[in-house]
Amino acid sequence: MVDPNISDWLRSQQQSARKHRIKVIILGVISLVAIIGCIVFFTKISNKSSNSGNNSSGTNYFTWDNKPVNLTIIPNVAYKKVFYGINYGPVNASYPWCTNTLGDVIEDVKMISQLTNRIRLYGMDCNVAHYTMEAIIKLKLNMTIVPTIWIDDNDTTYQRQYDLLFHLVKKYGVDKIDGISVGNEVIFRQNIPIQTLYNRISDVRTKINSMDFNKIMPVFTSDIGSNVDKAFVAAVDTVWANVHPFFAGVNVNISASWTFDFFDEFVVTPAKAAGKDSLISEVGWPTASNPINSSVPSVLNLQTFLDTFICSSNSKGVKYYFFETFDIPWKTAKFDVLEGSWGVFHPNRSIKYPIILPDCVLK
Ligand SMILES: *[C@@H]1O[C@H](CO)[C@@H](O)[C@H](O)[C@H]1NC(C)=O
Ligand SMILES: *[C@@H]1O[C@H](CO)[C@@H](O)[C@H](O)[C@H]1NC(C)=O
Ligand SMILES: *[C@@H]1O[C@H](CO)[C@@H](O)[C@H](O)[C@H]1NC(C)=O
Ligand SMILES: *[C@@H]1O[C@H](CO)[C@@H](O)[C@H](O)[C@H]1NC(C)=O
Ligand SMILES: *[C@@H]1O[C@H](CO)[C@@H](O)[C@H](O)[C@H]1NC(C)=O
Ligand SMILES: *[C@@H]1O[C@H](CO)[C@@H](O)[C@H](O)[C@H]1NC(C)=O
Ligand SMILES: *[C@@H]1O[C@H](CO)[C@@H](O)[C@H](O)[C@H]1NC(C)=O
Ligand SMILES: *[C@@H]1O[C@H](CO)[C@@H](O)[C@H](O)[C@H]1NC(C)=O
Ligand SMILES: *[C@@H]1O[C@H](CO)[C@@H](O)[C@H](O)[C@H]1NC(C)=O
Repeated sequence: MVDPNISDWLRSQQQSARKHRIKVIILGVISLVAIIGCIVFFTKISNKSSNSGNNSSGTNYFTWDNKPVNLTIIPNVAYKKVFYGINYGPVNASYPWCTNTLGDVIEDVKMISQLTNRIRLYGMDCNVAHYTMEAIIKLKLNMTIVPTIWIDDNDTTYQRQYDLLFHLVKKYGVDKIDGISVGNEVIFRQNIPIQTLYNRISDVRTKINSMDFNKIMPVFTSDIGSNVDKAFVAAVDTVWANVHPFFAGVNVNISASWTFDFFDEFVVTPAKAAGKDSLISEVGWPTASNPINSSVPSVLNLQTFLDTFICSSNSKGVKYYFFETFDIPWKTAKFDVLEGSWGVFHPNRSIKYPIILPDCVLK
């Protein structure tokens, strides 16, 4: 819709439609009906495509379902800026089926900017990082992102993601980038040999820090906390671990203290021993699917986790990216309900009823 080439295409289509019409009129009245249909159709489309320039609603951006996007952020009382950071995946972004638009990401970032200043992303495909950066700039927000070079067992994926990452930093610089994650849970999934992962981290670090940026960019991977060992700590600039009380099978009423204890013992301690900083790259609670021992997915349990974890870690100064912003329908379709059900919000951006975010607003 916003691509000016599409308007050219439509214009040329309309011209040929008019020529076509002269011939058809000769053919008779029956065809005339079809032509009127045609004209109505093209007029409609051409009205729509004129939105891609300037119309009175003043926007150039549209969501996947063609709703215009207004760049004014209207504060929503259900949103509170309480998260150190949050994990974000656009709902329609699943390579190679990328039906997400910049407009969708702008709407998402309008909302996320009322929850936190920091966004962690999962990959470079479907323009996820480029759109998020563009949205932050268009909305004039003082926010930062952590892009991830997604790694699976396919080297083509890595090369594509790597190229996109360097395209991103060349285009936008690194002022709004807090760090670069080379893969997420790659060791856990056993996608590639661990040494290959560490070599890739090292390559990315060498390349980015040889570019002329006024900043040393931290480069790391994130993996589940139990995979943090000496070699892991040595390979990264800062130790990022996903710490999920749900998968420990604990009752939600002890999930926050379990998280702090686990993080301290398995992540902070080895990181400190090497003089490195650490952070919880994922922590959250799912709202659907089956229990694991005493861990029960539900919205009320997510509420309990938010109530016991957020303010406590904010006051302790524990850094974390909450997992995650939205339920993601494509994950449910591709994997299972559990994978797709960690959102604090529904894909339509409304908060899961009856969740109330805690009150410890961060600056
Ligand atoms: C759109 O509107 C703005 C502000 O009124 C104007 O500066 C700009 O030239 C317009 N662009 C087009 C393509 O009409
Ligand atoms: C966007 O929304 C704001 C607040 O509702 C309104 O004042 C403004 O005119 C809108 N902007 C455009 C370009 O429609
Ligand atoms: C501007 O675009 C919006 C979004 O498609 C549409 O709803 C509106 O009718 C358009 N306004 C004009 C004057 O074309
Ligand atoms: C985009 O996501 C919405 C919300 O999950 C879904 O209803 C819709 O079908 C998706 N659209 C496309 C084109 O994938
Ligand atoms: C943006 O945020 C950073 C870190 O939160 C802060 O140091 C900086 O002063 C802010 N910049 C502006 C222009 O507000
Ligand atoms: C790797 O990914 C590429 C591009 O997505 C695809 O064409 C190729 O078939 C994949 N290779 C394997 C072994 O899955
Ligand atoms: C669940 O409980 C069973 C039986 O006590 C135990 O063997 C298993 O390790 C537990 N799983 C988790 C994830 O705690
Ligand atoms: C947590 O829940 C379990 C099971 O419902 C209960 O036995 C236990 O007393 C609760 N613990 C706390 C600290 O509330
Ligand atoms: C958003 O989606 C949820 C879940 O599908 C639904 O319950 C809720 O009514 C929707 N809210 C709006 C404003 O559409």
